[in-house]
Amino acid sequence: MSREDCYSMRLALVARFLWLCSVVGLENGLARTPPMGWMPFERFRCVTDCVKFPRDCISESLFMRTADLLVSEGYSAVGYEYLIIDDCWMERQRHEITKELMPDRERFPRGLYFLSDYIHNKGLKFGLYHDIGERTCMHFGPGAKGYYALDAKTFAIWNVDYVKLDGCFIKNINLDIAYPAFGRELNKTGRPMVYSCSWPYYQKHPNYELIKKHCNLWRFADDIRDSFDSVGKTMYNYYKQQNNLTKHAGPGHWNDPDMLVLGNYRLSYDASRLQLAIWAILAAPLIMTNDLQTVRPEIKTLLQNRAIIEVDQDPLGIPGRCVYIAGSFQIWVRPVMPFNNMGAHSYAVAFVNIGNYEPCPLCPQTHEVVLERLGLKNDLGYKVIDLFDSIEDLGLFKPKDTFITRINPSGVTFFKFTAVDMY
Ligand code: GLA
Repeated sequence: MSREDCYSMRLALVARFLWLCSVVGLENGLARTPPMGWMPFERFRCVTDCVKFPRDCISESLFMRTADLLVSEGYSAVGYEYLIIDDCWMERQRHEITKELMPDRERFPRGLYFLSDYIHNKGLKFGLYHDIGERTCMHFGPGAKGYYALDAKTFAIWNVDYVKLDGCFIKNINLDIAYPAFGRELNKTGRPMVYSCSWPYYQKHPNYELIKKHCNLWRFADDIRDSFDSVGKTMYNYYKQQNNLTKHAGPGHWNDPDMLVLGNYRLSYDASRLQLAIWAILAAPLIMTNDLQTVRPEIKTLLQNRAIIEVDQDPLGIPGRCVYIAGSFQIWVRPVMPFNNMGAHSYAVAFVNIGNYEPCPLCPQTHEVVLERLGLKNDLGYKVIDLFDSIEDLGLFKPKDTFITRINPSGVTFFKFTAVDMY
């Protein structure tokens, strides 16, 4: 073979490799840390009557108001950047001739290109909901079935940055084929879009190896509700599958336990702390669902707690797990940065009191644990801070030391154990 032949063969191989990357796997370079943002569904559901409910209906004005508040109230400054439209934004039918999806004319009178521009001008990113099947989950608009390429192109024209693809009405659809196929169409547009899949939620035995190749995040549990019970169920659901779930998550690919319901009606202050702490342990996307205009100040402070957000966004991207569970007491541990100079991790540790301890279910409970039993084995020890009050330094703890904490019912205490260096 001549040098020229050899050179052109190498070029062809490189071109083929690049082509494969662009159309086979996801590797869109996005979501290196779990996405953060806002989505209306749990709070605003599918309210479409803007005459009766002008503040609550799914409309251009809800998203413009929320974009303004994400910035003016300081949420975007701590990382909440994706503003995502959930279900109920569409006209009930596609365009008669072009078959394109259309936003509801009355609720989105200036169209989605206008809204996406507004959101981008605020320095935020724009997300949009769709469904892989015949119709969206609220039976609302048309699903993507039969129109993957067209819908991906339409999303790219609207400058969408994040696609949440649900999985309702999927008769005769093989999700293991359909989700990758839609993802390929997104890739082909050339516009980077985070790809959030509900794929495993709709399957009995999800193939996470496959899912993580094609999606940036995936729902694995029921829709979250605004209650402590629902948060607890989601945690338990994760715990049951954690050997599998922790294996597959990492930079670019995340388990999604659904939205943060903090700031609504039913979570106490302690339960709000609990949801935030555990979502940070899980390396979960932090997607709020609330009315940013009415979030109480103490909940806003929680949502903007930089120390906890830093745990959630830890660059190692190793999701945590529940390492101890007894009655209503649980301990959740996540390895995080920094490593010390001997290669030992630091850790975020959450102590949970689900709140039905006998003999006093509604009292705070004390828990004592020797740290090495949690896997904290750095001989030089750990500097400890309370992540809800990171000003206070709790001192140095060695692996054989006993750590004592007192936890409110339906609550959590949350600490960072930073591995000490050898000098
Ligand atoms: C499903 C999803 C929810 C929401 C609704 C909208 O239930 O799991 O997160 O998107 O559909 O209809």
